[in-house]
Amino acid sequence: MDRKAMKENAGKAAVDKLVRDGMKLGLGTGSTAITAVRYIGGLVEQGALNNIKAIATSFQTELECEKRRIPLYSLNSPEINGSLDLTIDGADQIDHDHFCVKGGGGALFREKLIAYASKTYAIVADETKIVDMLGRTFPVAVEIIPESRVFVCMELAKLGAECVLREAVRKAGPVVTDHGNLLLDITFKSIAGLVYPALLEEQINHIPGVVENGFFTKKGPHAFIAREDGTVDIWD
Ligand code: 5RP
Repeated sequence: MDRKAMKENAGKAAVDKLVRDGMKLGLGTGSTAITAVRYIGGLVEQGALNNIKAIATSFQTELECEKRRIPLYSLNSPEINGSLDLTIDGADQIDHDHFCVKGGGGALFREKLIAYASKTYAIVADETKIVDMLGRTFPVAVEIIPESRVFVCMELAKLGAECVLREAVRKAGPVVTDHGNLLLDITFKSIAGLVYPALLEEQINHIPGVVENGFFTKKGPHAFIAREDGTVDIWD
C-alpha cells in the first residue's frame, strides 16, 4: 500500500472512532490531517454528521474547510468558548511515549494552542513517523519573533541545537508563518546520549523571542498509526 493510502486509512480510522454529531472539533494541518478533514467534509455533505463546529489549525486547513463547507469558528467565539471536544492532527515524528515533533508544515503554534484546548487529542500518522528518539533525524520547528532571530539561535546552541532559518520556496527570503513570525528548524544531532523532549519543550519556550516549539509532550494523544499492510494500530 502506498503512503497516500496509508494516510487516508489513518484519517478515516480516527474519524470513525472519535467524531460524533455536535462536537467542537480542532482540525489539523498537513497531508495526513487533511485526509481526516476531507472525510469529515464528505460525512457532513451526506448528512451523516451533523452540527459540528470546527476550528482550523492553519490557513491551509481553513481553505480546505471552506471548500468542504465545514462550519468554521474561532477559538474565541461564544459557540466554542475556548475549549474543544476533540482535535485530530498529524505529526512529523512520534515516539513510544506518544511524544511528537510537529511543525513540518509551519503551523505548530496554532496546532499546539488548539491541541491544548482540546479534551481529547488524536494524532494520525503512517508507520514511517515512528522513531525511538525525537529531534535527531527530523528538525524541530521553533516559531520566533523576527527581531529575536540571532539571539534565539545563540541560546538554542547552548541547549545543543543546530539552527537553520526556514527559507521559502518560490518566494525569496524566509517562510513567514500564519502569525507573521519566522521559523527556525533545529536538530540535536550532536548531542551524545539521550534527547529529552519534555525538558527541551520547556527550556526552548523560556527563551525570550520564542513563540512556540514543535515538541508536543504534554497532551498524551491517542495515535492512529497506519501500517503498510492496510491495518491501523490504535495507541490509547
Ligand atoms: C504541520 C504539522 C503536520 O501535522 C506535520 O508536518 C505532518 O504533516 P504530514 O502529514 O504532511 O506528514 O505539524 O505544522
